Amino acid sequence: MSFAHQTLTGSKPEQYAQLADQARALLAGEPDRIANAANLAALIYHALPDFNWVGFYFFDGRELVVGPFQGLPACVRIPLDKGVCGAAARTRQTQRVDDVDAFPGHIACDSASRSELVVPLVKGDDLVGVLDLDSPRLARFDADDQAGMERIAAIFLDSLT
Ligand code: SME
Repeated sequence: MSFAHQTLTGSKPEQYAQLADQARALLAGEPDRIANAANLAALIYHALPDFNWVGFYFFDGRELVVGPFQGLPACVRIPLDKGVCGAAARTRQTQRVDDVDAFPGHIACDSASRSELVVPLVKGDDLVGVLDLDSPRLARFDADDQAGMERIAAIFLDSLT
């Protein structure tokens, strides 16, 4: 299989609709969590501008453990009471942070990060982990990004057996 990079076009919601289609196609028929997380991180990182880190943390029953990602090496374990990722996992609510320096307890894995979007991954009642996106640009993420990434997170969760 070879993956042809397709440029996203139109408004932001239209671009996310195309990205969701690409994600669905990429994950079709594959239930492996690591494989799908790895391919999704690469798809997202290369499809849209201004990211320095895109990836997954998985909940091991106690804390979040880094999974497949694109970007610089990252913190391995994040307790649920720490960081933007911990907040998303603990509250099960997406965290959209315009300025990470203003977020109490933000964990600076990559000093280039200025804003962050973290989507919790919850299947049924179970916390699977989080999808974490970092940008070197302040306020990189708006409501369209949040809705688009929540949709992609849902596609990932649907792929799991
Ligand atoms: N900034 C995150 C830590 C993970 S890295 O961004 C990859 C946080 O505060 O939870």
